[in-house]
Amino acid sequence: MRWLVTGSKGMLGQDLVRMLAERGQRVVGVDRDDFDITDPVATSDAVAGHDVVVNCAAWTAVDPAEEHEGDAFGVNAVGAASVARAAAVHGARLVHISTDYVFAGDGTAPYPEDAVPAPRSAYGRTKLAGEWAVRAEAPDHLIVRTAFLYGAGGGCFPKTIARVARERGGAEVVDDQFGQPTWTADLADLVIRLIDAGVTPGTYHGTSSGQVSWYGFARAVVAAAGMDPQIVRPTTSEAYVRLAPRPSYSVLGHDALTAVGVAPIGDWAERWDAAAQEVLGG
Ligand SMILES: NC(=O)c1ccc[n+]([C@@H]2O[C@H](COP(=O)([O-])OP(=O)(O)OC[C@H]3O[C@@H](n4cnc5c(N)ncnc54)[C@H](OP(=O)(O)O)[C@@H]3O)[C@@H](O)[C@H]2O)c1
Repeated sequence: MRWLVTGSKGMLGQDLVRMLAERGQRVVGVDRDDFDITDPVATSDAVAGHDVVVNCAAWTAVDPAEEHEGDAFGVNAVGAASVARAAAVHGARLVHISTDYVFAGDGTAPYPEDAVPAPRSAYGRTKLAGEWAVRAEAPDHLIVRTAFLYGAGGGCFPKTIARVARERGGAEVVDDQFGQPTWTADLADLVIRLIDAGVTPGTYHGTSSGQVSWYGFARAVVAAAGMDPQIVRPTTSEAYVRLAPRPSYSVLGHDALTAVGVAPIGDWAERWDAAAQEVLGG
């Protein structure tokens, strides 16, 4: 199997390329310095000759997207369309990574894969447009929505909290936004398992199981970093306003995975225990 991974220098892309190589797969990683995914000719040239394309390239800066929605749309929607069209033309399976931000985030039960999207942020709107483009352009697509992503190869919540707690002797973290912290290595493994299983095209949720607030996750992070979790104090979204609205409930259901016989990623706390040393750098 010949794999092409876009966004290969990003947090997820790095883990996916490494894992594929470790498993003896033929993999090419490409990023912005190779070509821009909004360039359809360069994208098509790169996709040619591959069996699977995983689109990890994205505009992921949530707050800046509020003021640069056109630029974010360029990457997340036009870029996604370009990758999808190339995959379809060259007969490759496409795995496109999307986000919990396509939902309103005000639910009270896990969002099923077919829940009605209603993004509340510019980032969410552009990623939803990317999903539509992928469905329109590439019939053989897997859209994998993830959330609360962390990994060794990028700036992420655990690294920030561990640093802030160490430098300032504590941290205030919102206790009214819930989700499923997800390790990039687990998501990379899930993507490979989905392709190995030859699952039907469609939309899948690639997050850990269970749920926790950012505050609860921060306490687990601080404990793993060898500090007292009590130094993390709870606060509210009202007290910690961001440019882009944040979902209060970003919990995704995994029924589509179960239906095709692919095991969802395990419980977020158990997975954080497995990830902490690698992510926090020993
Ligand atoms: N991080 C999260 O918490 C989170 C949550 C939910 C979903 N997701 C989704 O998960 C996927 C992977 O996220 P990530 O955190 O690994 O992202 P990331 O670390 O920001 O990596 C994205 C990569 O894509 C590249 N890129 C951006 N625009 C490009 C373009 N026009 N052409 C070619 N390459 C381009 C970036 O290069 P530059 O650095 O040069 O821009 C970067 O290397 C994305 O689809 C994201 O929307 C992430």
